[in-house]
Amino acid sequence: MPSRHSSPPEAAAGGRRRRGLLARLFKASSDAVPAVTGGVPQHVAIIMDGNGRWAKERGLPRQAGHRAGATRLHDITAAAARQGVRYLTVYAFSTENWSRPEGEVRALMKLFVEFFHLYDERLREADVRLRFMGDRRGLPEDVQVTWAEAEAGSLGRQGLQLIIAFNYGGRQELVSAARHLAREAAAGRLDPETISESDIGRNLYLPDVPDPDLVIRTSGEKRLSNFLVWEAAYAEFYATPVYWPDFDADALLEAIQAYQQRDRRFGALASNEMPPAAAAPSTSPAAGR
Ligand code: FPP
Repeated sequence: MPSRHSSPPEAAAGGRRRRGLLARLFKASSDAVPAVTGGVPQHVAIIMDGNGRWAKERGLPRQAGHRAGATRLHDITAAAARQGVRYLTVYAFSTENWSRPEGEVRALMKLFVEFFHLYDERLREADVRLRFMGDRRGLPEDVQVTWAEAEAGSLGRQGLQLIIAFNYGGRQELVSAARHLAREAAAGRLDPETISESDIGRNLYLPDVPDPDLVIRTSGEKRLSNFLVWEAAYAEFYATPVYWPDFDADALLEAIQAYQQRDRRFGALASNEMPPAAAAPSTSPAAGR
């Protein structure tokens, strides 16, 4: 917004200076940690858990934990982009979270709207594209508007894709894919006998997004909790006891380094265990368990 006292060219220059400063701030939050080299996961997915316990340990209301968690989300987006991650999917509100007390649900909805208004400019400067996965229906009007505006406003951006799973459930996503396929079959456009993994894949919420390579869960829990149940079939799982509001760029680096030590075989053998005459290893996850 130009200042009431600036002429248009001055206002434009002021805007550019401010945006430059914001871009440096965004970058600085992750600059202290060196970038890893080697096999950086293309897609990292995070179950941001432990906000409530983080708040309780400080004698604060749970909402304060979620607020600190939202700030952390912004920092980790910057850190992930700096490490070369292309897609970052975070679990911000599950279909099961509706059973929390009404005040907490309301606070999470409010935080959703606030987050995008607060960080809009910094995310734009960092060229972050915003996407969402989940069921938009049933969400408050202002959340739906923010969702649509953030998606449309960042469509052409080429940087990291930040995907917010909101009112999301992995099983619900599969139910929705099954309904699409059933409709196609009922209309005679699809033979049920030929339904394949790729038919299910193209009916998921974000069919163009590659499967996650690494799923991180903070706060010491070791469950998937209905997160990306189809997409994470071959992801590496990393659990850390750190509560989400404390999960910083160093913690992300540790998770990526742990990922780099893993031997991803997709059900096949490790390359050094393959007989010399064997054909090139299949890259298809369907090759085995
Ligand atoms: C789980 O911790 C966390 C959530 C249910 C909400 C996660 C939301 C954020 C980090 C902020 C959201 C950002 C946006 C963009 C809306 P918990 O509350 O279950 O923690 P606990 O297990 O310690 O109680």
